[in-house]
Amino acid sequence: MFYFGADYYPEHWPETRWFEDARLMAEAGFNIVRMAEFAWSFMEPEDGKFEFAWLDRAIETLAAQDIHVVLGTPTASPPPWLMAKQEDLFLVREDGVRATYGLRREYCINNPLYHQHTERIVTKMAEHFANHSDVIGWQIDNEFGNRCYCEICRKGFLGWLQKRYQSLEEVNDVWGTAFWSHIYTDWSQIPVPLKREVAHNPGLHLDYKRFMSDSFRQYQKLQIDIIRQQTEEQFITHNLMGFGFDQLNYYDNAEDLDFVSWDNYKRMQWDMNAAIDPSSAALSADTMRGLKKKNFWVMEQQSGGGGWDIVAIPPKPGELRLWTYQSVAHGADAILYFRWRTCRTGTEQYWHGVLDHYGIPGRRYEEVSHVGMELQIIGKAIHGSQVRAPVAIMQSYDTRFAFQVQPTNPRFGYEAHIHDFYRAFFHHNIPVDIVSEKDELEGYKLVLVPAMYVLTEETVSNLERFVDSGGLLVFTPRTGVKDETNKVVNMKLPGLVTKLAGVEVEEYVSMPEDEDNQVNFELLNLKGMFPVSVWADVLKPTTAQIVARYGSDYYAGCAAVTINEFESGEVIYIGTMGDEAFYGYVVEWLLELSGLEPFLYTPGGVEVAERWQGDQRILFILNHTAEEVVVHLPFGMTNLLTNEGIEESVPLAPFDLCVLGA
Ligand code: GLA
Ligand code: ZN
Repeated sequence: MFYFGADYYPEHWPETRWFEDARLMAEAGFNIVRMAEFAWSFMEPEDGKFEFAWLDRAIETLAAQDIHVVLGTPTASPPPWLMAKQEDLFLVREDGVRATYGLRREYCINNPLYHQHTERIVTKMAEHFANHSDVIGWQIDNEFGNRCYCEICRKGFLGWLQKRYQSLEEVNDVWGTAFWSHIYTDWSQIPVPLKREVAHNPGLHLDYKRFMSDSFRQYQKLQIDIIRQQTEEQFITHNLMGFGFDQLNYYDNAEDLDFVSWDNYKRMQWDMNAAIDPSSAALSADTMRGLKKKNFWVMEQQSGGGGWDIVAIPPKPGELRLWTYQSVAHGADAILYFRWRTCRTGTEQYWHGVLDHYGIPGRRYEEVSHVGMELQIIGKAIHGSQVRAPVAIMQSYDTRFAFQVQPTNPRFGYEAHIHDFYRAFFHHNIPVDIVSEKDELEGYKLVLVPAMYVLTEETVSNLERFVDSGGLLVFTPRTGVKDETNKVVNMKLPGLVTKLAGVEVEEYVSMPEDEDNQVNFELLNLKGMFPVSVWADVLKPTTAQIVARYGSDYYAGCAAVTINEFESGEVIYIGTMGDEAFYGYVVEWLLELSGLEPFLYTPGGVEVAERWQGDQRILFILNHTAEEVVVHLPFGMTNLLTNEGIEESVPLAPFDLCVLGA
């Protein structure tokens, strides 16, 4: 079943309203709500006193309208009575300041007392709701994040280190504490990396970020195990935050979940600019799908203008529907809007829901209801269908963490670098998977490995296997600089992949803005000059062929881009970074080399994404522009929403879309 609904907070409204909410939801085609993820004070108003009757009644009211429920465990927002018990329940921020009560996500993830209270509330909830036929699943906590740097976490870190490295000698060795003679002679001397003017020991700092990520996973597991003891049937998920979020290793986080959910906000309170880059949500969705190689739920899909202190632009007519379908096109098997009704109080007073503050259906409700009606027509055909991508972009949280410690150039951003490549494929309507270092690469025609800074032997074997079997592989600057411990490798760059790439980095140049450069492409069929910036790896081919050279400065004429034949495959090394035109050009070249062509060519701002139900291709053509466009089709197709045949072309109104079967 395709689930469609909203995040609902009955505890914010008088009970006399609940029936009307449920009725309006059913009329909009809703069959699911998420509830309770911030309702700890309502479920345990006093220490040890539990009240679930109100939630039973809310569930019953919804169930009467055939609406199912996902329950959130409430641990993201503990009640004041709990947090008043001990100061160290509060996390210590990176700047060393302890949080105080007033918002949410203020707890220390490793605090034993917090764990005890977590175990108790989750056990009580699970005992009460595990066999409830209208509760189909669970969300653990809400949007894990917020690292802690307290003394409890420091002790936890020491234990984590002991397990990972066994001896203090080993720790000193891998971190290279000889530098500034930080030789630790007792475990207890090891600090946490509080915010300082420059980077800490990179080894220590990377390990702390890993430890924090593991702490979140462990805390999540604590809750999962409790629920699993009570029920085999209900699913367990967590709402993650897309591609942009960088504090947790989401691959680890997702491993313990039945499937991934995520929260998709297209235009936030701080985006006062109306323009949206539609490739951002697509990249997030593809990343989330890649975590378990499975379709996902969107547990929070934006349903109005977002706002805390500032009120953001409301979604324009058509945008909510468009954004919803974009999520679906990239692998959503369920959509829940955040939130059902705009709250009259609290920090998120201006975070607009499907209904406004006053609770009467308006433009957004109508639009969402329209989607609900459409999903009743095509939901079944879409549910469970798969995205199939011929291209993969590899990303790594270890590399992210390491770049957080040392960004290496103020203008460099690892996530932005990945996005630059992704965007170029997106503009060519070529589906992309976002994969991890460990993922099997067989079946892809083209794999990009942008800036894989922390590179392990295991990853290299994986990449070699791919190239051996005929794949086209692409590296970019800062590849293979670090080993797993965040030490710089003791070899010429690109380190472990020097042979694979057939080049050596003679030297590298971190560019200031006034020393940006250009590259000239010089293959017979590939000529062109582009400005480049941020970073230049000056390349010396060993077995590779030169594709482009730098245009100026003392390294003018040196190789900037190369291609190498390796076994039955090819390896490209792109030694620098450019602008949108540069990535567009490079990606066209890559598509040509790998024999890939878009299924459909569309006007700018019109996205084509596809899912497959067996042999049936389901095409989503999404007009992200405020203009009317016409999309030409290569052959006749069926409009799955109207069941009409379409011969040659489809006109799309501003922010309109169509779903075609081919
Ligand atoms: C997040 C949270 C929600 C809400 C929304 C909007 O995604 O999970 O509780 O705060 O953002 O701000
Ligand atoms: Zn802590």
